[in-house]
Amino acid sequence: MKNIPDKINHYEKLLKVLLKLYPEREAHNIAKIYFQDRFGISNKSVNLSSVDSAILNLDIQRFKNNEPIQYIVEKTFFFDSFFKINKSVLIPRPETETLVQSAINSIKKYAPTILDIGTGSGCIALSIAAKYTDAQITAIDISSEALSIARINKEAFNIKNVNFKKIDFLDKTSHDDLITYDIIVSNPPYIKQDEKQLMSTSTLKYEPDIALFPPGEDYLVFYKSIFEFAKSHLNKKGVVLCEINEFSKKDLAKLLFHYNYKWEIINDFQGKPRVLKLEK
Ligand SMILES: C[S@@+](CC[C@H](N)C(=O)[O-])C[C@H]1O[C@@H](n2cnc3c(N)ncnc32)[C@H](O)[C@@H]1O
Repeated sequence: MKNIPDKINHYEKLLKVLLKLYPEREAHNIAKIYFQDRFGISNKSVNLSSVDSAILNLDIQRFKNNEPIQYIVEKTFFFDSFFKINKSVLIPRPETETLVQSAINSIKKYAPTILDIGTGSGCIALSIAAKYTDAQITAIDISSEALSIARINKEAFNIKNVNFKKIDFLDKTSHDDLITYDIIVSNPPYIKQDEKQLMSTSTLKYEPDIALFPPGEDYLVFYKSIFEFAKSHLNKKGVVLCEINEFSKKDLAKLLFHYNYKWEIINDFQGKPRVLKLEK
C-alpha cells in the first residue's frame, strides 16, 4: 500500500526555520506577520496552494539568508501607518518615532515650513504631513531609488503637502535651492565604520550602506553640515531636530561648543539619548 504523506502544515514549516534564527517569541511574531502580509492568512493550520507554497519555499530561503521580514514583505509599520519599503531604503526604526513626535511637538504656528534631510522611505516627512496638512514640507535624499519609494508612499497616503527633491546635502552649492525653515528634521547616516562589529548581519547585508554610514573619516559630517546650514536656513524661533546615535552625545557636545545654538537631548522610549534639539 502507498504511503499517503501527512498534509504539510506550512505555518509550522516556516516556524521551524524561524526558531533556528530568532528567539521564540520573535519567531512566532514573524511567522504570524509573514502569513498575514504575504497570503492574507491568519489561520495557523492553513494549507497553501502549490503556487503559494512555491513562494513560501523561496521566502524560506530568504529568511535563511538573514533577510529581514520587512524587505521580504516589502512593508513596515511606522508611527501610524504601513510604509512600502524595499532594499533601497533603510527600514524605519521605532526609535525614529521619537524624532517625529519631537517635530510634531515643535510645531507652534500655522503652515510651518519643514525640511526633512535624508528622507529615505519618506517615513518622517509623511508622518508629519498626515497630521499637519497645512505644513509645507520639503524632503530630500541623494538616492533616486529611495525617492521613488517615498513618492509611492506619498501617493498611497494621498498626501499633498510634501515635495520630494533629489539633493546631495553634503554638496554646499545645493543649499541655494532650499528656502528657510521653521523645522529642520533629519535622521542622517551616522554610524561609525568601527561600529560595524556591533551591527546585525541582516542590517549589514541588506540595508543600504549609504543610509547607514557617512562618507569619509568624519562620522559627524552630516551634523556639521546641518549646523552650518541652519545658520542661514533656520527661521527665528525655529528648531533643528536630528536623530543621534546613543554613543555620540559627547562628540556632539564638543562640536556644538563651536556654535551658538541652545541645545538639548531628548531620550527615546528606552531612555537612550536619541534626538538632538537645537534652537538659535
Ligand atoms: C539613516 S537613513 C534615514 C532614512 C529615513 N529618514 C528614516 O528615518 O528611516 C539616511 C538617508 O540619508 C540619505 N543620504 C545619504 N547621503 C545623503 C546626502 N549626501 N544627501 C542627502 N541624503 C543623503 C540616504 O539615502 C538615506 O535615505
